[in-house]
Amino acid sequence: MSFGAGPTFVGPGFGAAPCHRHMPLSKQRSLAEDVGLADPEVKGAVIAVDGPAASGKGTVARALASHFNLPHMDTGLLYRAVALNLWRWGGDAGNQFEALRACDELGFDQADPELRSEPVSKIASMISAYPAVRAALLQRQQDFAGQAGGAVLDGRDIGTVIAPHADVKLFVTASAQVRAERRLKELQERGMSAHYEDVLADIRSRDERDAGREVAPLKQAADALLLDTSNLTPEQAIAEALRLVDERLARAAP
Ligand code: CDP
Repeated sequence: MSFGAGPTFVGPGFGAAPCHRHMPLSKQRSLAEDVGLADPEVKGAVIAVDGPAASGKGTVARALASHFNLPHMDTGLLYRAVALNLWRWGGDAGNQFEALRACDELGFDQADPELRSEPVSKIASMISAYPAVRAALLQRQQDFAGQAGGAVLDGRDIGTVIAPHADVKLFVTASAQVRAERRLKELQERGMSAHYEDVLADIRSRDERDAGREVAPLKQAADALLLDTSNLTPEQAIAEALRLVDERLARAAP
């Protein structure tokens, strides 16, 4: 198993964007509750997993979703889908309004290999700094986080902006060097040639853009649990994540 971008488990509701909720997450009711299908008292956990590129957050989030039988949203895919739209239209990633146009009709196939391609990764990192793009994608993510049965979301701003009231928040990180090695291995496994120094430089500039942007910068929420995967195998990282989540949920239980 690698820390890479494997197939994403996405549970029910991904892509659905009901516009009926504009309340804070803690007060939101799901569509199912509105039509009387779910007991609002029986609510699954909301787990927020944030962290920088190639930190292992996707691997951890997928494993948590599978373990707790919760739907999972890889929010990076939304930014990648906008980037892919823009790239296919030949739009200008340096122009916020063109990037915003690329948010319209955001249907995408999560198995599309181009979503994970280098040009799209670069464009995703650029357009995700635009406030208008983030605003256009906000409701969809908050709706997913607010569904009655709970959910796991991974990204950069889940614990700080999308689901500030999440039951458990993990901030998954690793040294830039380790993350560059992982990304290089992923690229090589996909048959692409790349050099370690270039990949490391790319990781560093992505970190800078993510952490330095004005809107929803990448940062550990004050109440997030830190998981440093630098010296962990994927299996160890998953085991540690499960331990942290179990512990936090047990402490919160009445
Ligand atoms: O793991 P990696 O950084 O390669 O990519 P990702 O998680 O798929 O995210 C793609 C891009 O979207 C990143 O460069 C982030 O800047 C951005 N992103 C974001 O700004 N906020 C999120 N919640 C998720 C991703």
